[in-house]
Amino acid sequence: MVFPKIVFLAVALAAIPSTYSYWIFGGSRPVVTTRLDSIVTPGVVSTHVHSVVGGSRFQASYDFDDLSTSQCSTIPIQQDKSNYWAPQLYYHDESAGTYTLVPTSFNIYYLMRPGPKNENIHAFPTGLRMLAGNVLRRVNNASNFADQAITYVCLDFDHDHSGDPAWEERPDFFQHQCPDGMRAQVFFPSCWDGKNLDSPDHQSHMAYPIQNFDSGDCPSTHPVHLISLFYEMFVSVDQFPYVAGRWVYSFGDNMGLGLHADFQDGWTDKDLLQAAVDQCADTDGNAADCSVLSPNLNQAAASACKPEMTIPNENVGFNGVLKDLPGCNPLWVGTGPKPTCNPDPPTPDFVSVKTPLPSGWHELGCIAEGNTGRAFTNASETDAAMTKAVCANFCSGGGFPYAGVEFGTECYCGSSFSNGAVNTTTIWSDCFSTCGGNPNENCGGPNRLSVLYNPSIQS
Ligand SMILES: *[C@@H]1O[C@H](CO)[C@@H](O)[C@H](O)[C@H]1NC(C)=O
Ligand SMILES: *[C@@H]1O[C@H](CO)[C@@H](O)[C@H](O)[C@H]1NC(C)=O
Ligand SMILES: *[C@@H]1O[C@H](CO)[C@@H](O)[C@H](O)[C@H]1NC(C)=O
Repeated sequence: MVFPKIVFLAVALAAIPSTYSYWIFGGSRPVVTTRLDSIVTPGVVSTHVHSVVGGSRFQASYDFDDLSTSQCSTIPIQQDKSNYWAPQLYYHDESAGTYTLVPTSFNIYYLMRPGPKNENIHAFPTGLRMLAGNVLRRVNNASNFADQAITYVCLDFDHDHSGDPAWEERPDFFQHQCPDGMRAQVFFPSCWDGKNLDSPDHQSHMAYPIQNFDSGDCPSTHPVHLISLFYEMFVSVDQFPYVAGRWVYSFGDNMGLGLHADFQDGWTDKDLLQAAVDQCADTDGNAADCSVLSPNLNQAAASACKPEMTIPNENVGFNGVLKDLPGCNPLWVGTGPKPTCNPDPPTPDFVSVKTPLPSGWHELGCIAEGNTGRAFTNASETDAAMTKAVCANFCSGGGFPYAGVEFGTECYCGSSFSNGAVNTTTIWSDCFSTCGGNPNENCGGPNRLSVLYNPSIQS
C-alpha cells in the first residue's frame, strides 16, 4: 500500500459531514489482549477475550484514580489513559479445528456532533464508563439506533465497488473477501444523564441523540451532550483465505451482530480535552491539526507502552493457534441461543504480564550500549523466546551479576559496565522492543539494553 492506511480510513468514512470537527487517534495498538472486562465482569476472568487499547493499568477491576496512574498509553496523547476495548476476532479453520488470532488495531474517533440546537459539547465526566452493542444480539433491527451504531466496512483500495450492494456498509460480516481488511465499527451514545458515571446495564445512563445515532440533539432524560466516541476496529481478515463463516468473535459469534465495545474514561487532563473540543473546530480528522492536541502527541511513548498489571494465565492466540476459544465459547452459528459447555473449562489463575524475574534480580532500567563496544562483554546468547527472566537465568548460570536484553531476542552478561557504558537510565520508551518470548514485555531496543542486576552474585 502506497498511502498510509489512516488517510483512506478518514476519507472512506463518508458518513462524517466535513462541517463537523473530529480527530482520530489512528492505528492505535492494543496494550493487551486478554480475557478481562473491568466493566461487565469486574474482578474476575471475563467470559471472552478482548483487545484493549490505551492506559497500561488495564486490569480486572480498577477505578479512575488507579487507571490515571498508568505509566503510559497506546493512545498518542499520553494525558489520555482511558481504556477502549472490543472483542477479539479469530479465523476459524473448521477442517484443521483451529482458531487463529486476527491482527487488530483501532482508530479511535472523537467527534463534535451537535444537533439543530447546537448544544455545547462536553468532555467526558471523570471516570465515565459505558458499553455499546449487545453480545447476545442475533438479529438486526434496522430502525433501532443501537443496532445502526454497529457496522462493518470491507476495504479494497484498488477497486471501486460503489453501488454494489454486496460491498455496502452493513450490520454483519461480509460474504466475500476484504482484500485490504475489514473495519468493525461501534458508535457510542453521546447523551449523558448528567448524574451517573455507570449504570447496572452500563448503557442506560447514556442515550443516542433524538435525530440520529451519530448526531443530533440530546433528549431531556439525557441532556448533557458529550463528545461522540466511535471505534473502528481494523481486522486483517485479508491475511486468511475467505471461506463463509470463518470469521469468529471471541464469544463464538460468526455472524458479527454481537459486536460490542466498552469505554472507561482515564483522561488525566480534562481541561486539555475540553480545550480541544472548544478550540479545534476546523480539525478534519488529523489530531496534529488541532493546535491544542498537537504539542501533546507522543507516538514514541504510545509505541513503547506495555501493560503493567496481572492477566489470566492462558494462551489467547499469540503463542500458537487455539483448538478452542478461551472460556466457554463454542462456535455459535445461526439465531438460536448461545451453546453451553459441559463441563465448563477450568478458570485460569492470574499472572503478571511480565515474566517474573528469578530471585535476587531486579530491573535497573533502560541504558545505552557502550560507545566503544558492548556494555556487557562476558557472555551472550540469542533466543527467539527471550524474556528478561530467560536472560537473568542465563547470566546467573555464568556467575554474572548484570544481564541486559536488547532488540527483543539478545541477552548480554557482564561483571560490570564496559566500553563507556554507564549505569544511567535513558528514557524508558527507548526500550520498546517486544520480548521474543512474551508479547507483553519489553526487551531493550536498538542499541538500548533493559538492564537487570543481582547484587548477591559476586564476580
Ligand atoms: C425495532 O426498533 C424500533 C425502534 O427502537 C422498535 O420500535 C421496534 O419495536 C423494534 N422491532 C423489533 C422487532 O424489536
Ligand atoms: C568480564 O569481562 C571484563 C571485560 O572484558 C573482564 O575484565 C572481566 O574479568 C570478565 N569477568 C569474568 C568473570 O570473566
Ligand atoms: C545504578 O544507579 C542507580 C541510580 O543512580 C542506583 O540507585 C543504583 O544503586 C545503581 N546500581 C548499580 C548496580 O550500580
